[in-house]
Order: sequence, then C-alpha cells, then structure tokens
Amino acid sequence: FFELNPFVPRLHISCTCEVCHKLMREEPRLDVLINNAGIFQCPYMKTEDGFEMQFGVNHLGHFLLTNLLLGLLKNSAPSRIVIVSSKLYKYGEINFDDLNSEISYNKSFCYSRSKLANILFARELARRLEGTGVTVNSLHPGIVRTNLGRYVNIPLLAKPLFNLVSWAFFKTPLEGAQTSIYLASSPDVEGVSGKYFGDCKEEELLPKAMDDLVARKLWDISEVMVGLLK
Ligand SMILES: NC(=O)c1ccc[n+]([C@@H]2O[C@H](COP(=O)([O-])OP(=O)(O)OC[C@H]3O[C@@H](n4cnc5c(N)ncnc54)[C@H](OP(=O)(O)O)[C@@H]3O)[C@@H](O)[C@H]2O)c1
Ligand SMILES: *[C@@H]1O[C@H](CO)[C@@H](O)[C@H](O)[C@H]1NC(C)=O
Repeated sequence: FFELNPFVPRLHISCTCEVCHKLMREEPRLDVLINNAGIFQCPYMKTEDGFEMQFGVNHLGHFLLTNLLLGLLKNSAPSRIVIVSSKLYKYGEINFDDLNSEISYNKSFCYSRSKLANILFARELARRLEGTGVTVNSLHPGIVRTNLGRYVNIPLLAKPLFNLVSWAFFKTPLEGAQTSIYLASSPDVEGVSGKYFGDCKEEELLPKAMDDLVARKLWDISEVMVGLLK
C-alpha cells in the first residue's frame, strides 16, 4: 500500500510526475489505484499550477496521476481504478468557457462540477481501457463524518445541533470507505467498468454524466491543462 498524499503536496504537477516515476521504478506492480483526495467548497483559491482549487485537486490531480500510472496498471492487469465522486455531481456543469472560474466563482457549483468531472473521466477512461484488463468505476461514498467540511462555516450556536445530526445520520469513515473497498477488491465487480456505485450497488446516472461528447472534450482539455499534451 503506497500512500501518495504525503509525497504529492497540493497535487503539484512536477511533484506528481516525480512521485510517479519513483513509484514506477520501485514498485513492480500496481493492482489498485484509488483516487480519493478531495477538497470541498473552499473559498476561491488556486493550486500552485494556477488552477481553481476544487477543479485542480478533485479532477486534474486525479487525471494526471492516473494517466502517469496507466502503463504500470496495464502491466499489472487485471487491475482496477476507483474514483471517489459524489452525488452532488447533479448540481454541476462542465462550463468549458470558465474552467478556472476566473469570470465567476461559486464554491458549491465548483465542487459539483469537479465531481461531475470525476464521473465523466471514469467513463471516458473506461472506454479507452476496453480490452486491457484495467477497469475503472466511480462512486458516491454517502455522507461521511470526516474533515471534508473544514471550510464550511457553522455558527457557534448551531454546532452542538450539527454534531448531534452528524453523529446520528452521517456514516463513520469506516462505513464511508465500504463502496471504495468493494470496487477495489470484490470479485462481484471483476470485469465491471465505466459504472457508478453507491452503497456497493450500481446506480443510475443523470444524462449529463453520460454525455460522451462532453467527456471527450473534458479529456482533451485536461490533457492540455496538465501538460500531458504539449
Ligand atoms: N465526507 C463526505 O460526506 C463525502 C461525500 C461525498 C464525497 N466525498 C468524497 O470523498 C473523498 C474523501 O473525502 P473525505 O470525506 O475523506 O474528506 P477529508 O477528511 O477532508 O479527506 C480528504 C483527503 O484529501 C486530501 N487532499 C485534500 N487536498 C489535497 C491536495 N491539494 N493534495 C493532496 N491531497 C489532498 C487530504 O489530505 P491532507 O489531509 O493531507 O490535506 C485528505 O487525505 C473526497 O473525494 C470527497 O469529495 C466525501
Ligand atoms: C451556486 O451554485 C449552486 C449549485 O450549482 C446553485 O444552486 C446556486 O444557486 C448558485 N449560487 C449563485 C449565487 O449563483
């Protein structure tokens, strides 16, 4: 198990490349890649490479990392890629005219957009990986009691109520990890690719998450943005 986070500070492009090369030199195989890192509704910020933070971390980071490790994953086939998205993708749109949110910034929209990008990326990658023995699926983990809400401002007086609600209704991190673990390891999903899951079951997607033209265009633009295609 290779925990990439400590080595990929802020998903910086050159650091990501460096870490992937190190991993490819040192690891003979890569059976599973789980793209889980994410940031939720932060104020307007940019990554070191100048991308809007949520799009940069939640989509472009995973896009670059996965593409750099694709050779190793193919050589390790059968292997699996898992992409942690969110149900909130429903409120997103891939607005190609302002992917860096320089014209306007709406933190909820940008989170949803990045999570829609996760699903479109998973589907387009699944299409490209047909016949290679590498599968890729995306998922919604549920509402989980983690540190994801660090940028959400809850008024001091509402905090006890929020804690009570989250304690009563949110999943624990162990519960929240189950669909990722299922997709990473269960024989039930051997050979299954390009699908979206929740609670360890396949779920239907809205048409906007199944738009192959948008998925392809997003792929092409992402390749240029992260410098895979000069
Ligand atoms: N919690 C929920 O209810 C929920 C619901 C739907 C979807 N999700 C998704 O589940 C995934 C995991 O989130 P979580 O709930 O476990 O949140 P979390 O507790 O905030 O964990 C997020 C992880 O992402 C890493 N990360 C954030 N920004 C990064 C960056 N720039 N570079 C490298 N690593 C970075 C964090 O590492 P550091 O701690 O080192 O910063 C942390 O390990 C996310 O993709 C999220 O969108 C969560
Ligand atoms: C921000 O985006 C969310 C989700 O897409 C939307 O519901 C909301 O109306 C938007 N807010 C503004 C001020 O445009």
